[in-house]
Amino acid sequence: MSSLPRLLLDWYRKHGRTLPWRDHPDPYAVWVSEVMLQQTRVETVIPYFEKWMRLFPNVTTLANASEREVLNAWEGLGYYTRARNLHKAAKIVVEKFSGQLPRNLTELRSLPGIGRYTAGAIASMAFGMDEPTLDGNLRRVFARLFDVKEFADSPAGEKILWELAAQNLPKGEAGGYNQALMDLGATVCLPKNPRCLLCPLMEICEARKNDSQELRPVMKPKKAVPRYVLAAAVVCRRGRVLLARRPPEGLLGGMWEFPNGRVAENPAKELTKALYAAAKLKVKTSEALGIVRHAYTHFKVTVHAFRCEPVSIPKSENLRWVKLSDLEDYPMGKVDRRIANMWLKS
Ligand code: ADE
Repeated sequence: MSSLPRLLLDWYRKHGRTLPWRDHPDPYAVWVSEVMLQQTRVETVIPYFEKWMRLFPNVTTLANASEREVLNAWEGLGYYTRARNLHKAAKIVVEKFSGQLPRNLTELRSLPGIGRYTAGAIASMAFGMDEPTLDGNLRRVFARLFDVKEFADSPAGEKILWELAAQNLPKGEAGGYNQALMDLGATVCLPKNPRCLLCPLMEICEARKNDSQELRPVMKPKKAVPRYVLAAAVVCRRGRVLLARRPPEGLLGGMWEFPNGRVAENPAKELTKALYAAAKLKVKTSEALGIVRHAYTHFKVTVHAFRCEPVSIPKSENLRWVKLSDLEDYPMGKVDRRIANMWLKS
């Protein structure tokens, strides 16, 4: 074994993190954890993973769950398409693969929500296959170890990094090797102020030799994120509040929210117009409840929430009058859950 995997695996035995999905060699647990970890930090994922495994301990329970149960269990983790895809994929695994995750990359990648990275992670960690993987942490570690000067987020940079991930893979130990790289990236080879003096790979790191750690990985300049101002209506009637369901696909697809619209200068006045134009909802704004700010991946929002009275609300299957005691059963994004809590406490 060449020195990179040997040094890394020795380090991992001593310093690898104890994580709940590592106690479960079960492919389903590995799959769930990898999907949760796609855009989310380990510390955030752990309680969600544990709750998920209690609610849906295997592929069949997940496949049989309702979309609402699945989105509810995911609420707060963000990027809800991951939850919907996991649910869709569980149904496919039950129908097409007799309830067992397939043991090959092509079939794994045919499942919704499993791309090249997740397939490599599952194949190596759950099935012991000699497959590389490449997440944000591994990208950074390889870009530094080999002092890669290409943009890491360009096709050319990606190609180089995947090759590096594959070239150094120790036969029969890819799962440990990939997880060791993840842990090294999360605890030592940090984006800012990397802890090079604690790094088992210090002696063989090209960026350390060239003093370029802080410059790697090279990323393309980021575009400015747009900011939107919205207003949301908390419309109440006889102890119930009006929720609207978002379209099934796209941002927060299928989740529930307070009816809202884009506004500019005068949120209260423009809100009533926007709700009428979008859904023929007639409401009267009363007092302001508060302001919620949130950053999504590609834009930021400022949402002005108002208590409103209903004037005329059309019937629709995407609009529902919800009892206060049932509010928490309706999956919502962070902004709307904050508005709900603001209102409940007001
Ligand atoms: N990030 C993504 N997958 C991971 C894993 N299996 N262990 C630690 N961090 C991870």
